[in-house]
Amino acid sequence: MRVAAITGASSGIGAATARALAAEGYLTVLGARRLERLEQVAAETGGEAVELDVTDPASVEAFAACLESCDVLVNNAGGAHGLDPVASSDEEKWRRMYESNVLGTMRMTRALLPKLIASGDGHVVSVTSIAAFEVYRGGAGYTAAKHAQRAVHQTLRLELLGEPVRITEIAPGMVETEFSLVRFGGDEEAAKRVYEGMQPLRAEDVAECIRWAVSRPPHVNIDEIVVRPRAQATATEVHRA
Ligand SMILES: NC(=O)c1ccc[n+]([C@@H]2O[C@H](COP(=O)([O-])OP(=O)(O)OC[C@H]3O[C@@H](n4cnc5c(N)ncnc54)[C@H](OP(=O)(O)O)[C@@H]3O)[C@@H](O)[C@H]2O)c1
Repeated sequence: MRVAAITGASSGIGAATARALAAEGYLTVLGARRLERLEQVAAETGGEAVELDVTDPASVEAFAACLESCDVLVNNAGGAHGLDPVASSDEEKWRRMYESNVLGTMRMTRALLPKLIASGDGHVVSVTSIAAFEVYRGGAGYTAAKHAQRAVHQTLRLELLGEPVRITEIAPGMVETEFSLVRFGGDEEAAKRVYEGMQPLRAEDVAECIRWAVSRPPHVNIDEIVVRPRAQATATEVHRA
C-alpha cells in the first residue's frame, strides 16, 4: 500500500487531503499538534495520527521515524499570523510564520527524502499560496514566508532532477478553513468578514487538485497548480455581491 504523509491534517486543506488520498487507496499518516482532532480525521480515513510540530526538529525526526516507507509527502502545515503593516510588525508572529511555513517544509522534506527516493516513485507536494508570488498591504510577514517556501520548493525541483521524486506546488487563493481564525487570533467576526459576499474555495477543492496531481503517471510532473475562487482575480481584487 502506498503511504502518504500529510502535515497540518487536523483541519482544513490537510484534513480534506487525508480524505481524498485515503479514497485514492493511500495509507495516510497524519501530523499536527492537536492530537485529538488529528485522531478524529485518522479514524474517519483509516489512517494513523502522529503528533507533530514542524517547528520542532525533534518532533519532525520522531514523526519520520514512525514511517517505514513514504511515497508522498504533503507539506501543508502552516498559515498566517496577523495583518500588520511592516511599520508595526510583530517579530514573534513573523518568526512563527517563517518557522512553520518555511523551516517546516525544509525539515519535513529533509527527514523524509531518503524514504521518498527509496520508494522509486516519490512525490513532494507543497501547499504554498498565491501569497507565494503576490504581495498585499499588511501581508508582508506571510507573503515573505510563502515566497520563501516557494523558493525552497522550486530549488528541490532542480536538486532532485534525476531522482525518482516528483515535485508539485499547490498555490491556492481564498479557501474557507480555520486559516483566517488563526490569522486573527481567534476573532470569529474578523475571520467571517474575509469571505463576506463571495464564495471562497472549500478545502475539498484544493484537496482534489492534490489528489489529481499525485495520481498522474510517474513520468508526469505537475509543476504547479494555482487555484482561486472565480470571484478572486488577485490577492486584493475580489468581487463581492
Ligand atoms: N485558507 C486559505 O485561504 C489558504 C490559502 C492559501 C494557502 N493556504 C495554506 O494552506 C495550508 C493549510 O491551511 P488551511 O487553510 O487548511 O488552514 P487551517 O485550517 O488553519 O489548517 C492549518 C493546519 O496546519 C497545522 N499546523 C499549524 N502549525 C503547525 C505546526 N507548527 N506543526 C504542525 N502542524 C501545524 C494546523 O494543525 P495544529 O494547529 O493542530 O497543529 C492545521 O492542521 C497552510 O500552509 C496555509 O498557509 C491557505
